[in-house]
Amino acid sequence: MATKLLLHTLFISFLLAAPQGYSERPVLRATMTRSEKTIDFTRAVRRSHERLSMLAARLAAAAGDASAQTPLQQDGGGEYGMTFSIGTPPQQLSALADTGSDLVWLKCGPCTQCAPQGSPSYYPNTSSSFSKMPCSGGLCGVLKNQSLAACSTGGDECDYLYSYGLSKSSHHYTKGYLSTETFTLGTDAVPDIGFGCTTMSEGGYGTGSGLVGLGRGSLSLVSQLNVGAFSYCLTSDPNKSSPLLFGSGPLTGPGVQSTPLISVPSPSFYSVDLQSISIGNVTTPGTGDSGFIFDSGTTLTYLAEPAYTLAKAALLSQTNLTLADVGDASQVCFQTFGTSAEVPSMVLHFDGADMALPAENYFLPVGDGVICWIVQRSPSISIIGNIMQRSYHILHDVQNSELSFQPANCDNL
Ligand SMILES: *[C@@H]1O[C@H](CO)[C@@H](O)[C@H](O)[C@H]1NC(C)=O
Ligand SMILES: *[C@@H]1O[C@H](CO)[C@@H](O)[C@H](O)[C@H]1NC(C)=O
Ligand SMILES: *[C@@H]1O[C@H](CO)[C@@H](O)[C@H](O)[C@H]1NC(C)=O
Ligand SMILES: *[C@@H]1O[C@H](CO)[C@@H](O)[C@H](O)[C@H]1NC(C)=O
Ligand SMILES: *[C@@H]1O[C@H](CO)[C@@H](O)[C@H](O)[C@H]1NC(C)=O
Repeated sequence: MATKLLLHTLFISFLLAAPQGYSERPVLRATMTRSEKTIDFTRAVRRSHERLSMLAARLAAAAGDASAQTPLQQDGGGEYGMTFSIGTPPQQLSALADTGSDLVWLKCGPCTQCAPQGSPSYYPNTSSSFSKMPCSGGLCGVLKNQSLAACSTGGDECDYLYSYGLSKSSHHYTKGYLSTETFTLGTDAVPDIGFGCTTMSEGGYGTGSGLVGLGRGSLSLVSQLNVGAFSYCLTSDPNKSSPLLFGSGPLTGPGVQSTPLISVPSPSFYSVDLQSISIGNVTTPGTGDSGFIFDSGTTLTYLAEPAYTLAKAALLSQTNLTLADVGDASQVCFQTFGTSAEVPSMVLHFDGADMALPAENYFLPVGDGVICWIVQRSPSISIIGNIMQRSYHILHDVQNSELSFQPANCDNL
């Protein structure tokens, strides 16, 4: 079994499944846009590794130190920004979409000591629907329980210090006061969404105006919208935006498959059981019930051992292409000649679902006819990054604890 990777035609719709038969519930529609049009492989390797380290550190610390929160990238590029409007009248903004964390926050007002710099802020003083969340607010309680918020004297303000690194002294945090506002997704206005009005922040948050937490915790936008499920479809066309739908599903039509969400390595992630991997004619073990995390903020894909080494051996044993040196001996890259290359097929076997990947989802052209396998060895947790998720409509059904996917032309959803 081999798959042809067309180097000059990377935007193949390998199966055009029309979205049909959505339930009658209203679907809230937003869009996600990649902040960089082309992916620099070397930078992607570094960035993805940093995110992996922070996700792993969060897990390691979760038992003892509740102040350890989430993963973030050091610099922007491979991640997706979500576009939406906030306030009355609406102010349109874009903020980093992150399935690995919960808090929604935006730079508020002039925000001269805020990262990221250069992006627009949300101005509460020009909105009639803005309110500060009092200390008695439910979401304030959630943060207070994790020692991430404190009340002002009088209790009229809930001040948070939300740290993304390992400790409060790390240079990855956002600080401000909890508020409520009307968020507009597509044409639908949703009042009283709790979010952080940030007055100071440090760290890498892409190029937008803050961060939209899409995790499984109660602070996340997904939980607050109370929609039970959300889905996205990441287009491979860098010039187009990708749909992000809240309240969508279940998926219907050809090719839909589902697998249970599991709570390992953490119930806050969208993790599944990857039972095995087929590369060409060879099937190797997956990461099993250690979990495989679907993450929108990691660009490349990570496999823990022994899954990584066995999959790599299966790939090398079935490829006749010449290995290429990209200055990093840990990367599996090949020299191709001409405009296409035969690479072995790659299928992910989840608990009850098989994902037969198009070659574009696991080989990335890096220039000069060289293609690199995007799979990386992980010393800890395993992650399916955003390149490997492209051209699938992926539904996170939080309510039913299930992840479904369907090959799709994301531009038509
Ligand atoms: C809102 O605040 C900004 C900066 O703090 C200020 O420049 C602007 O004039 C204010 N707008 C209104 C309508 O008060
Ligand atoms: C805070 O923690 C306490 C004790 O674990 C729990 O009873 C309460 O429901 C929590 N509050 C919130 C808002 O999560
Ligand atoms: C995307 O846009 C750029 C600049 O407008 C253009 O050069 C490029 O060919 C476009 N890419 C695709 C895949 O359409
Ligand atoms: C895989 O199996 C098919 C059919 O049995 C065979 O034609 C092909 O050569 C095999 N490919 C490899 C890489 O072994
Ligand atoms: C690689 O080359 C060998 C010898 O020419 C051939 O037998 C084999 O089928 C080739 N394998 C693939 C995957 O093309």
